[in-house]
Amino acid sequence: MAEGKKQATWGGRFSEGPAERMVRFSESVSFDCRLAPYDIRGSQAHARMLAHVGLIRKDEAEAICAGLDAVGKTIAAGDFNWDPRLEDVHMNIEQALTAQVPAAARLHTARSRNDQVATDMRLFLKDACAALIGNGRALIAALIDRAEAVKGIWIPGYTHLQRAQPVSMAHHLLAYVEMIARDLKRWEQVAEQANHCPLGSGALAGTTLPIDRLFTARELGFVDAEGKPQVTRNSMDAVADRDLYMDFVHACSVAGIHLSRMAEDWILWNAAEFGFIDLPDAYTTGSSLMPQKKNPDALELIRGKSGRLCGHVTAMQMMVKGLPLTYNRDLQEDKPPVFDAFDTIQDCLLVLTGVVEGMRPRPDRCAAAVADPALLATDLVDYLVTKGKPFREAHHVIGALVAKAEEEGCALNALSDAVVAEIDPLLESDWKEVFDVATAMSRRNRPGMPGPEQIDGEIQRWKDVLGNRS
Ligand code: ARG
Repeated sequence: MAEGKKQATWGGRFSEGPAERMVRFSESVSFDCRLAPYDIRGSQAHARMLAHVGLIRKDEAEAICAGLDAVGKTIAAGDFNWDPRLEDVHMNIEQALTAQVPAAARLHTARSRNDQVATDMRLFLKDACAALIGNGRALIAALIDRAEAVKGIWIPGYTHLQRAQPVSMAHHLLAYVEMIARDLKRWEQVAEQANHCPLGSGALAGTTLPIDRLFTARELGFVDAEGKPQVTRNSMDAVADRDLYMDFVHACSVAGIHLSRMAEDWILWNAAEFGFIDLPDAYTTGSSLMPQKKNPDALELIRGKSGRLCGHVTAMQMMVKGLPLTYNRDLQEDKPPVFDAFDTIQDCLLVLTGVVEGMRPRPDRCAAAVADPALLATDLVDYLVTKGKPFREAHHVIGALVAKAEEEGCALNALSDAVVAEIDPLLESDWKEVFDVATAMSRRNRPGMPGPEQIDGEIQRWKDVLGNRS
């Protein structure tokens, strides 16, 4: 269509078409074309509903549905000619269909692009959440597998990035499993929220025509656990609000933050200074200058991409805040953040799963690190507590012991019995038994703690969870 020619879909009242630069500025088809499969399903359900209530004939609905199937095939084959002058996926498909199927001129009856795009996006989000839940479960499975493989390995746990107390490497990995599991719940909630059909809301105020919203909802799978159709309750809300998308990008950003923290831990563990793990070659890269380098690029990219995921949350919130009801064209800007949040977090989940599957622990380095007796200074406090000393005083006594060891330039457990007994006579000849890491770990055997029994239980529990639901 040359400049000046009317826009085919809404051009009735216009004397000329949009300027070239307006076409470029206004089009969304370059990114919303990925909604095509949902748009086609939505239109087919809508056509069937129109026939069901007698607004179009059955043969017209059939021709429309068959025509949409054909358009869908052309799109899937990559042969569709997307035209930015037709603005978006909806008008591109409708125009292509109408060129083949005259009855398609009736398809937009009782519908607006406002409820159409809201429907497409809800269908997209339901699929996106299901996909991410699958990807997240694969990552959890990989983490459980790894946790089981390393469950006999102890490492220092850190606070303030200072050695704090011993934990098992499995416990550290299982901490991330808990986080991802909550991420999956957030996506489940988004999918649940998405599961209400907005079609029939029209532009903002529904329609005067006798449509059957429940029919369309059922056709599109917007149904509850009992198969009962679910529709949005307010036509203005349905076309105006975007909290569902905000929840989605937020859920993706929280998951991204979790993955970023995991990435950071493993970047540290992989560094020579820690040396707790070796990362798989398949997820690391070399240096163009320094031949010895093996860089944790996959993990660094995961860490970096979490920033962009958080940016999408802000973009969505700023876009919606202050918009008058109902639809405003600003809302077209909702799609790039939603799509990119999905693509980015999915890639991160897939790549991280590969890293987890391929990473190898270095038990010797872990054993050397966890052998630091200072890690059990707190256990020594507990030793005094069991002998009746108030915790605050016991803490002070062991603090004095640590200072003494520093002064003598020796390890905490290398102080002599005489020296420690002088600091506190409750420190009897068995005081050094506290420094046996295996015993120390086995004592941490209550729910949520890193003792071996708890770890075994948690691994088994997760295996059951994964087994039951896959
Ligand atoms: N491409 C548009 C969007 O994503 C579809 C809705 C257009 N509605 C309108 N009234 N111009 O927002």
